[in-house]
Amino acid sequence: MISEPGKISKITTHVLHEMKHLGRKIAMLTAYDYSFAKILDAAEIDVILVGDSASNVMAGHTSTLPITLNQMIYHATSVMRGVTRALVVVDMPFGTYQGNSKNALFSAIRIMKESGADAIKMEGGREIIESVDRILSAGIPVMGHLGLTPQSIHKFGTYVVRATEEKEALKLVEDARLLDEAGCFGIVLEKIPAKLATEVTKEVKAITIGIGAGGGTDGQVLVLHDMLGINTDFSPRFLRRYHNLHEEVSKAVISYIHDVKANDFPNEKEQY
Ligand code: KIV
Repeated sequence: MISEPGKISKITTHVLHEMKHLGRKIAMLTAYDYSFAKILDAAEIDVILVGDSASNVMAGHTSTLPITLNQMIYHATSVMRGVTRALVVVDMPFGTYQGNSKNALFSAIRIMKESGADAIKMEGGREIIESVDRILSAGIPVMGHLGLTPQSIHKFGTYVVRATEEKEALKLVEDARLLDEAGCFGIVLEKIPAKLATEVTKEVKAITIGIGAGGGTDGQVLVLHDMLGINTDFSPRFLRRYHNLHEEVSKAVISYIHDVKANDFPNEKEQY
């Protein structure tokens, strides 16, 4: 039995499974740097995802495809310096695991060794199961990711809701079973019908974390920059904005510029 959430000194995959068992919801957010990771960890977030969405929100690319393994390791290492309690999961970037399970293991080992993270995440089901098996056999915890998998955006051609048709929904359920049977500790379900996500959640031992998948999953994840309102040009229906940091930061920067130009900063107390 797990203790009170506030008393847990380190979230492990075991703790997450117990949370599922007890019906306690799991909160996950992305982070890519030391400063934000430290804030999230102190606030007692359960899981931090060093997402390859760093490619979009940190580097300004239009997709997650360009980010490299070295760049993901850099972000993950920065995050790890700010975290003591949360479980940290790192996305395996596009091209480091698809189609070659030896490469996949090599990439996963580099992430774990060089960043000190707790687990890795990979997109896909049956297509990547050999890589998932090989990584798990090395003792590395794996989180799957089904539904809208942004690394396949060129195959999908659009970011619309996935698995609304029966054929794709059946494949998703089968993929979830495969990942679960392989031993994945968790599965992200992105932008799929709520009913389907609830069905998968009941079916698998793995924790399910939804994004645009309704309230029936074991937990939720959002991209930090989206939920803080830093990024204002992305407004899908599933996104709840908890702040308008874009406006706050803009106001602060405009005030600073004004003060510098008016020779009001620094004042006498702000100098030596
Ligand atoms: O990279 C990412 O931020 C993600 C989440 C959207 C789940 O994979």
